[in-house]
Amino acid sequence: MSVTQASPTTPPRLCQGWPWWPLLPLYPYGHRRTLVRELVPGQVWSFEQLQGVLYVAVPIRMTVVRLTEGLLLYAPVAPTQELLHRLRELEARYGPVRTIVLPTSSGLEHKLPVPAMARAFPAAAVWVSPCQWSFPLPLPLPWLGFPAGRTRVLFEQGLPHADQLHWEMLGPLDLGLGTFVEVACLHRASGSLLVTDALVAISSEPPEIFSADPTPLLFHARELGTEPLTDGHEQRRRGWMRLVLFASYLRPSALAVPPWPEVIAGSFRPGVRAAKAYFGLYPFRWQRGWEAEFEALLAGGAHPLQVAPVLERLVFPRARTALVAWLRRLARLPGIAQLVPAHYTAPVAASQQDLQRLADALEQRPWAPSSGSWEFLAGVDSALVRWGVVPDVPPAAPEATSEG
Ligand SMILES: [Fe+2]
Repeated sequence: MSVTQASPTTPPRLCQGWPWWPLLPLYPYGHRRTLVRELVPGQVWSFEQLQGVLYVAVPIRMTVVRLTEGLLLYAPVAPTQELLHRLRELEARYGPVRTIVLPTSSGLEHKLPVPAMARAFPAAAVWVSPCQWSFPLPLPLPWLGFPAGRTRVLFEQGLPHADQLHWEMLGPLDLGLGTFVEVACLHRASGSLLVTDALVAISSEPPEIFSADPTPLLFHARELGTEPLTDGHEQRRRGWMRLVLFASYLRPSALAVPPWPEVIAGSFRPGVRAAKAYFGLYPFRWQRGWEAEFEALLAGGAHPLQVAPVLERLVFPRARTALVAWLRRLARLPGIAQLVPAHYTAPVAASQQDLQRLADALEQRPWAPSSGSWEFLAGVDSALVRWGVVPDVPPAAPEATSEG
C-alpha cells in the first residue's frame, strides 16, 4: 500500500470557524481545525477534524476520492474556509467536486455538515443513504437544508459512478427512534473501501490531529482536578488511552466517580482556574491497572479493525447476523487493499481475507457482553428495551449492493 502524507501546514489566516456548531454542540465547538493527508497519491485524501463531548474527542474524517469526472466527498465534515481552500486546491488539479455522499442515516455528526457542503458546491449532486430520519420531529430533507433539486437516495434512485465505485449497504436496522443504515463504498482504482461508523481501528499513540492542540489529552492525563495541565509525550499518551476508553465504553470499569462535594472542593485551585481546565472540575478517579483495559481493547482481535464497543452494545446488540453478512459481502469484493473509516485511524491495510477472518471472529466470540467495562453500555441498552424505545427482536437485513 502506498501511503504518503501531505504537508499538515495550515494556510495562513484561513478561518477555521464553523457557525453551525450550536446545532450539535460538540468540542471543539465553533473552531474546527482540519488536517489534510494524502492517503493514496493522486487518488484518496483524508480531511480530518476533531469532535467529541467535552474533551472526549476523537478524529472524524471526510474522505475525498478522485474519479475520472472529478472528486467525490464521502461523509463530509464541517466546511470551514480552511477546508474549502484545501478542497479548491484539489479541484484545481483533479477536477470539480461532482458528488457529495451522506453514507449514514443515523450519524448526526456526519449529516449536519452536508447542507453547508452542498451550498459550497452548487453544481455537485448530493446522494444520501436510505431511511434518513430526524428527531424529535420527522422533517423532510429539504427542511433540513438538503437541496431538493439535486439530492437523491442511494439504491432507491440509482448509484453514482457505478463504473468506478461499488456500494454495499448495512441495514436498515430498527433502532426504535429511527433506523441505522451505513453504505460502504469501494473505490476500485485505489482499492480503498470507505466505511463510516461500523468499523474502526484505534491507534496506540495519539492521532496527529492532536499535535496542534493537545488540551483534551492533557486534561484526561491527570489523576486529580487540582493538577495543572502539563504537556509531554507520556501525558499525551496517557490522555489518549483514557479518552479512547471513555469513547468506547462511556463509563469504563476502571473509572470511579468521586462524590461531588469532593470534586467541587478541588476546583478553582491555583493553576486550574481557567475555562480550558473546566475550572478544576474533574469527576474522575482512574483505578490502579486501568491501562490493561486499553491494551485489551486494542488486542481484542487478530486485526486492528474492530467494531467499536459503543456500537456493538447500543446499535448492533441484536444485529450481529446482519453485520457479519455485510462484512462477508464486503469480503467478496476483489481488489480491497485498505479501509478508510470515518473515525480514528486511516488508512488501515486490509485484504479480502482479513475481512473474512474478521467476520469469522465476530461470529465466534461472545457478542455484546454485559460485564466489566461493558456493564454501563449494557445497562443503557436494557433500559431502552425495557422502556420500549428500542425493539428487542433481531432486525431483518435485506442485501443491497451495487449489483442490486
Ligand atoms: Fe460517526
